[in-house]
Amino acid sequence: MNESKVNEKMEELLALIEKNLYCFFCKNDPKNLYEPIRYLLDAKGKRIRPLLTLISAGILNGDINKAIKPAIALEFLHNFTLVHDDIMDNSDLRRNRETIHKKWNTSIGILSGDLLLAIAFQNIIADVGLDYCKEVLLTYTNSLIEVCEGQGFDLDFEERQDVTINEYFLMIEKKTAKLIENSMVVGGMIANGNIDDIRSLAAIGKSLGLAFQLQDDLLDLTAINPKFGKVVGKDIVEGKKTFIMLKAKEVFTKKEEVDLLDTFFLNHGLSPENVPLMIQYLEQNGIFELTKETINGYFSTIQSHLNKFENNIYKELLNNLVSNILNREY
Ligand code: IPE
Ligand code: IPE
Ligand code: MG
Ligand code: MG
Ligand code: MG
Repeated sequence: MNESKVNEKMEELLALIEKNLYCFFCKNDPKNLYEPIRYLLDAKGKRIRPLLTLISAGILNGDINKAIKPAIALEFLHNFTLVHDDIMDNSDLRRNRETIHKKWNTSIGILSGDLLLAIAFQNIIADVGLDYCKEVLLTYTNSLIEVCEGQGFDLDFEERQDVTINEYFLMIEKKTAKLIENSMVVGGMIANGNIDDIRSLAAIGKSLGLAFQLQDDLLDLTAINPKFGKVVGKDIVEGKKTFIMLKAKEVFTKKEEVDLLDTFFLNHGLSPENVPLMIQYLEQNGIFELTKETINGYFSTIQSHLNKFENNIYKELLNNLVSNILNREY
């Protein structure tokens, strides 16, 4: 298919998402809640989740206009997770802007996050057709439960030294992959997809979500594109047990490398001055390369599931979006 047509369609979907995100905001008061929410939305973001919902509906020849409100709801739900995640992770920067709890305060971060979550649910309940409202609502609610459980594991792992790679994958499946998977499932439901179609969309979404978080963890240490918009090395300072750090435990052998890694595990993180040295050790031991290979493995799984769908422009869009996500620099 003509590449410019695919790009044009992508721009069209993004414009539809932006328009619908903002048409909601007729309210201004209280300012201390609506201002931070606008501030976060204005900083953009990749809008991956609503795009996946619309594209999944389109792959099954569903009506994109029926999928737009549930798609927007997913972006609100995602933004809620970001605001609260930044409080939990002590993050100062998000989308190249000061985080809400830093610019305002923690109470405003908690409350504007709560409001985003309520807006997400309002969007689904108000606009999804009655025939699949219950199913879609249940899928959203389950996604939220999974995100909370995943974030719970993420915090718990900061304090633990014996986290396994399997536990890491369970944690990222919950905190990140499930919402991405369900973004696709919801699109499929709205397009009245059959059970096999929905299963294939879910399989694509799960692999994409796992690879997405692996890439996020990799970018946390390697990002050079200014659009990244977060503080590089933060996961090491916070003691996050990422695939990268768990692999380092298996691979590092030199005394100075093992000593620094032990400090990371024993002290639940490193001081910011030690981050560049750790990054150097990780690079020298091929850990970043290994992570990239793991990400590429998911790409093959995604391709095999994608092949089951008939060709249309949305399948091309998904193909492009998956490549962009897995090769992204921010
Ligand atoms: C960041 O998600 C949070 C993770 C699940 C890793 P995105 O990278 O999709 O954030 P935005 O919306 O584009 O800013
Ligand atoms: C995010 O994981 C998971 C969420 C549920 C938001 P991270 O904590 O790695 O996300 P970033 O790097 O802050 O965006
Ligand atoms: Mg986090
Ligand atoms: Mg974070
Ligand atoms: Mg991260």
